[in-house]
Amino acid sequence: MKYSFANDYAEGCHPSVLKALADTNMVQQAGYGDDAYSRSAETMIRRLVANDAVNVHLATGGTQANLVVLASVLKPFESVVAATTGHIFSNEAGAIEATGHKVEAAHTTDGKLRPDDVKPFLNKARGHHTVRTRAVYISNSTELGTVYTKQELTALSEFCRVNDLILFMDGARLAMALTAPSNDMALADIAALTDVFYIGGTKCGALLGEAIVIVNPALQKDFHYHLKQRGALTAKGRTLGIQFDCLLSNNLIFDLAVHANRMAAKLSAAFAAKGFSMLMESDTNQIFPVLPNELIRQLQADYAFLVWDIVDTDRSAVRLITSWATPEAAVEEFIKNLNNLVL
Ligand SMILES: Cc1ncc(COP(=O)(O)O)c(C=O)c1O
Repeated sequence: MKYSFANDYAEGCHPSVLKALADTNMVQQAGYGDDAYSRSAETMIRRLVANDAVNVHLATGGTQANLVVLASVLKPFESVVAATTGHIFSNEAGAIEATGHKVEAAHTTDGKLRPDDVKPFLNKARGHHTVRTRAVYISNSTELGTVYTKQELTALSEFCRVNDLILFMDGARLAMALTAPSNDMALADIAALTDVFYIGGTKCGALLGEAIVIVNPALQKDFHYHLKQRGALTAKGRTLGIQFDCLLSNNLIFDLAVHANRMAAKLSAAFAAKGFSMLMESDTNQIFPVLPNELIRQLQADYAFLVWDIVDTDRSAVRLITSWATPEAAVEEFIKNLNNLVL
């Protein structure tokens, strides 16, 4: 079977998470997120974000977290702005639109949104004949593997506050972003600069699960009802709680992200050593080398990965993703193959 660099959810969960699930399996707990493990995870998140007033809700997946959050904060005629590469715009089968809200998209080269990207959506000449832009969706790391700097997030956050926009960060790979060499933020900065965000578990060592953190008090009320109505409030919330309880203990989630990033950096260095450029510079666990189509075909004989974009008639950008579970030996084997193919 081909080794997969296609995504960061090809394995189950980190053994510590599996053990925590097994160890607590027969302990009776309250349902719907009222269990001791979810409470403990919430306490840890409050400590990590240095804010006792945040609300934490655990959901099963990223699309679910995105749609419940956005549907809960927007009025029926309000819209959200995302980058064209943003997951809600390009990869969720219209999940947000299906809740009744338009997703407006700005083209950006690096997957990040800046105030100037959002501004054009605010000056709608036709007033109440069009949707009103009310939320800004960003992801960190982005779908292109890039990471927001504190200066960039601060600028966007201030712009949102001045313009009465809700800033929502999709953190499916927040652990990878916060452990990237170029990162200059902590979880507390993310909480201070956004209204709502989530800490991804699915791609960071959990079997599944995302921890939604609602910072803005105005958005906290009744969120339980939104979760429940959209089928996102799970009776066995304990299964999510114990996973985050485990991942957040002893820095595990961040240690796993460091590994994922380091494996990707090793691959990047190998491509650079052979003279290949990147579509986008990334120091997280998604990399986008630009390769000759013939080499791509040869690598595809042994490896699964995505052909991301056509660059010219002879070359395409591919996407390779590493994860908390990627063995260093698999990366070294890939590099050996690459070096054999490119003399
Ligand atoms: C940035 C981002 N957000 C959200 C999601 C959606 O997650 P799910 O597939 O769990 O719905 C993904 C999945 O790849 C993602 O990369």
